[in-house]
Amino acid sequence: MRFQLAILPGDGIGPEVVSEAVRVLRVLSHFSDCEFICNERPIGGAAIRAHGTPLPEHTLQACLKSDAVFLGAVGAAEFDHLPTQQKPEAGLLGLRTALGGFANLRPVASFPAIADCSPLQRSRLKGVDVLFVRELLGGLYFAQPRGFDHEGDSAFNTMRYSRHEIERVARIAFEQARTRRRKVTSVDKANVLETSQLWRRTVTRIAEDYPDVKLEHMYVDACAMHLISDPARFDVVLTENLFGDILSDEASAITGSLGMLASATIGGSVDLYEPVHGSAPDIAGQGIANPLGAIASAAMLLRLSAGMHHEANDLEAAINQVLEEGYCTHDLARPGKHVVSTSEMGELVQQRFAEMLDRRFAYHAV
Ligand code: IPM
Ligand code: MN
Repeated sequence: MRFQLAILPGDGIGPEVVSEAVRVLRVLSHFSDCEFICNERPIGGAAIRAHGTPLPEHTLQACLKSDAVFLGAVGAAEFDHLPTQQKPEAGLLGLRTALGGFANLRPVASFPAIADCSPLQRSRLKGVDVLFVRELLGGLYFAQPRGFDHEGDSAFNTMRYSRHEIERVARIAFEQARTRRRKVTSVDKANVLETSQLWRRTVTRIAEDYPDVKLEHMYVDACAMHLISDPARFDVVLTENLFGDILSDEASAITGSLGMLASATIGGSVDLYEPVHGSAPDIAGQGIANPLGAIASAAMLLRLSAGMHHEANDLEAAINQVLEEGYCTHDLARPGKHVVSTSEMGELVQQRFAEMLDRRFAYHAV
């Protein structure tokens, strides 16, 4: 199988973590006929520097022609002065719109091996396995009108959702819940916002099509609290764009580091995979970034875009094994741990992944 991948390293630590994820994917070609053809293109600040725009046409075209897109991170302080539409982030938001993926899946689980890195007590971490389903193409991020007026003395954004936008992402959340513990927590601010009242009504109606899945509604402020006090109570958390952005970063603290989190954006013409962390300019280029969020995003790619479920499980097991062996990156450093660089962590995962694939394919051969 030939699999076309558009690779968009982007800014800051993006290139460092993306190259580790790509190396891990290449391990697969030693064990199967799966070949990843990688097409690298600039986005974000790197694209502004090279081509004067955060989403060059050749980058977009390469993405639209691919089987999946793999992105590192965008954002660089040197472009803070630019208007919103010219910033590095506009490249990512433009790409998301063009690809059409409206459901951003962000799994958050606790890893016993790095439980000490979590601010939460070990007892609270037991059984934590949350899947955020974040609406990605609507709400305050995109709706018009937006801008400044009164010569910059006031500013405005519009929160707008249509029933259609809510229905389609709600269905993804219920479908995902069916593969898990069959519970959806829909998060809104229906005591204040009309968009949230529509959200709640719509999700309640969609839930009728999934009688085997339990639905609960929760206000976003309460959700922020429950995520810390009792994260194990959640299975699938369904929410709108901005709430999902904020809550998923909050939830990453449960794992111990934002560097661990992966994401997949589905529902459009081409699926998009990216670690949840940003460009982290403060640690870029030092070889200390955590590549596991990017590598875990590659596992999601194997599962959701390449249909390689066993291999995806193997890759996640390889990540877990490396952590269990006591290895960690700078962000997870604790007494007694063996701190390794970005590329060393990548190599460790490659080795464990190769061992697992070796066992799997040897088993199938007999
Ligand atoms: C994320 C990021 C992006 C977002 C930024 C870089 C536009 O924070 O993927 O969570 O807000 O969606
Ligand atoms: Mn974010």
